[in-house]
Amino acid sequence: MSEPVTTVGGQTGEPARSEADNNRGGQTRILHLSDVHYGRPHVAAHVAAAERFAADGAFDAIVISGDVSQRARRREFEQAAKLLGRLRKIAPVLVVPGNHDSAWWFAPVGLGVPSLIHAGYRKWIDKNLEPTLNVPGATIVGLNSSPGIRLHTLTRRPRDLSVKGALTDAQLADAWKRFAAAPAGDLRVLVVHHNVVPGELSQRWGLTRHEHMLDAIAATGAEVVLSGHDHQETVVHVQREGGSFIASTAGTLSNRSRGARASSLATVTADATSVEVTPHMYDATDGVFRAVQGVTVARGRPRTA
Ligand SMILES: [Fe+2]
Ligand SMILES: [Fe+2]
Repeated sequence: MSEPVTTVGGQTGEPARSEADNNRGGQTRILHLSDVHYGRPHVAAHVAAAERFAADGAFDAIVISGDVSQRARRREFEQAAKLLGRLRKIAPVLVVPGNHDSAWWFAPVGLGVPSLIHAGYRKWIDKNLEPTLNVPGATIVGLNSSPGIRLHTLTRRPRDLSVKGALTDAQLADAWKRFAAAPAGDLRVLVVHHNVVPGELSQRWGLTRHEHMLDAIAATGAEVVLSGHDHQETVVHVQREGGSFIASTAGTLSNRSRGARASSLATVTADATSVEVTPHMYDATDGVFRAVQGVTVARGRPRTA
């Protein structure tokens, strides 16, 4: 039986590219932000630096993997919506909800009014909790791993009740369908809020049924999985019997970084032959995100375009 998580092919992250270097040779570039947490944890300087990074990077798409708010409050969502508006002027944006964006108290274990759990998110952030974004060279599929406290999210730790994430087999089958409909050669990127691999410091998995999830995600055909939630950056190559993918957890842009680490974001760069995911850490001395070691993996299926 294969190891659940294996890191291979790590390489030193590249320095920042000039704009002229981008989008050459059929490259597709995706910026991955997460856990902005408008509300008390929000750090305006980190978000402003991320916006500068986005504007300078010639990205084809921007992904935000949830927890845009701290308590799913109207004012927090309104501020997050303004950020999304600014980012959408730079590149198409895909966002999925995090557990902090889900007002689970309206319907614990389904008792109550489940439609209210994501009413605020739907109103201010996106009506669609599981969007698909197609950009040249990539099909990006979002899934909602934050359904609130439901029977299939229950864990034995009471403090995890509203924290742990979950995906159903039906959701993953739907992701498979969406990837199957992607143009040949597209980079297939899955976005979920909860980290699909354990954090280095937390040693915690974001999702219930975590071993099954790795197999089920591999079976969707995803080549890259972008997540957040753990508040520490992680990038590993996951190899399972049914397939392999790069799992990247972006850190938070808020003041809730695990272990007092710097805020971080990540970049995905792909062409017909390889895909690279590189975390970038915030340097408070000059307000710039800088690349650290990432992971590069050869792509198995050549592009046709
Ligand atoms: Fe978070
Ligand atoms: Fe979270």
